Amino acid sequence: MSATAARQSGFRIRESFSGRTAFILVAIGSAVGLGNIWRFPYVTYENGGGAFLIPYLVALLTAGLPILLFDYAVGHKFRGSPPLAFKRMHHNAEVIGWFQVGICFLIAIYYAAIVAWAAMYTWFSLSQAWGDDAEGFFFGEFLQYDGGGTEGSGLSVDFVAQVGWPLIVVWIVLLLALATGVRKGLTMVSLVGLPVLFVMFAILVGYSLTLEGATTGLNALFTPDWGALTSPTVWIQAYGQIFFSLSVGFGIMITYASYLKRKSNASGSGLVVGFANSSFELLAAIGVFSALGFLALAAGTAVDEVASSGLGLAFVAFPTIISEVPASALVGVLFFGSLTLAGVTSLISILEVVVSAVKDKTGWSRPVSVLVAGVPAALVSIVLIGGVSGVTILDVVDAFSNNVGIVLGAFVSVVLATWIYRKLDVLRDALNAYGSFKVGPIWKTLIGVVLPVVLGVLLVMDISDKITEGYGGFDTWVVATFGWGALALVIVVSAGLSLVPWRSSSAMHTEDPEHIESEEETV
Ligand code: ALA
Repeated sequence: MSATAARQSGFRIRESFSGRTAFILVAIGSAVGLGNIWRFPYVTYENGGGAFLIPYLVALLTAGLPILLFDYAVGHKFRGSPPLAFKRMHHNAEVIGWFQVGICFLIAIYYAAIVAWAAMYTWFSLSQAWGDDAEGFFFGEFLQYDGGGTEGSGLSVDFVAQVGWPLIVVWIVLLLALATGVRKGLTMVSLVGLPVLFVMFAILVGYSLTLEGATTGLNALFTPDWGALTSPTVWIQAYGQIFFSLSVGFGIMITYASYLKRKSNASGSGLVVGFANSSFELLAAIGVFSALGFLALAAGTAVDEVASSGLGLAFVAFPTIISEVPASALVGVLFFGSLTLAGVTSLISILEVVVSAVKDKTGWSRPVSVLVAGVPAALVSIVLIGGVSGVTILDVVDAFSNNVGIVLGAFVSVVLATWIYRKLDVLRDALNAYGSFKVGPIWKTLIGVVLPVVLGVLLVMDISDKITEGYGGFDTWVVATFGWGALALVIVVSAGLSLVPWRSSSAMHTEDPEHIESEEETV
């Protein structure tokens, strides 16, 4: 059936990227995010420094790239958001797609807040509004964090205006961009944002390398602690970092690949995206640790005294560095501007998974789907993370959605596809049909055997650790509600949604992957 005939007979043709370059740009925009600039440097430092690059590379080659290709194959072959793509893979598999959508929903509610903070700090950089006490300013004056959730203290959703309003603006901008569609909204954000991000970040890293003390910072980062390689936690961190950073295992690349035209080189694009993402990550680590070396030298301490992890690195250590260097305002705008841009291009991809799933399931127009999917996410985000206990909720939701949720979603999807539905040959053929290189037994072994074993072990270890040790020193009820409770809610809602009937005009009349050979791209 031709595209025109398909349209005339009531089929809806799926939106598509204008070409391979647009797809690669948007996929890199998704991959390069907070995970690269903020997370990778401190995860590397805390897990063996230079030695961490070994588990990182092993995780990239054995899990990251194979599952990136798996996600591309699922999205490209079955042409749908995760619920539709998995339903087309097997009529019982829809639930796993909804689970991945749910994880994206959870991630979006706190990711948006970090983007909003980064945007505010871009502004604060002009006057170094944090003054002499970056930590006191961030947690006190700015977030008004009440430390809720520890030692029997309750949580509060009291609105913090200077946090809540920027968060509202971030949500409005994102939902408007999403409403304009794949070619306009998604592509334009990355088309404009990514080159600006690369230029800003390259200047920043170049500048950091010229700072006094940069070599000390780089030595601290890259001096290998070989003993770390025997620690299971280090390997868990490497796999967790790769999944989050490459945007794999939680539906993003399935959704993006579903917008590829039929004759597209998905495997070649996968390698470009993976290489670009890891290069950016290394560049970020070099820049961040050069700057930390400078800070350590200025403070007369060792690098490990100034290298805080998590939010402290971006919003406490960096403001301190910015105040100390020449051209403070410019450096601040470059750093926080990069963080904001990288965050926006990733956040839009996380939300697109939810929007696209609603649109596929209901057949509603894109703007209506954006409203239905995006407004609840925005409200939850603004109420929970925009309040005085927001940091606690953010921390717990982040730990559970990433380390448990993403890995669980990836584990179940590869096990089902390989061992229950036996679709690996179909997926391999889909990749090979137009790919610039062929995948074969090695890829199948990695997906069907190595990944289930590795992910299964990681999951068991992480879950048992969280059950026995709790998480982050927070009260049990907080972890039970926002960690286990949030995951349980995602599972229940996913199961419920997979029982809701598809609107025939959507599920049945959305472009059939086997029969529409239109609007194709030759690569
Ligand atoms: N891949 C995105 C990041 O690294 C989600 O932040």
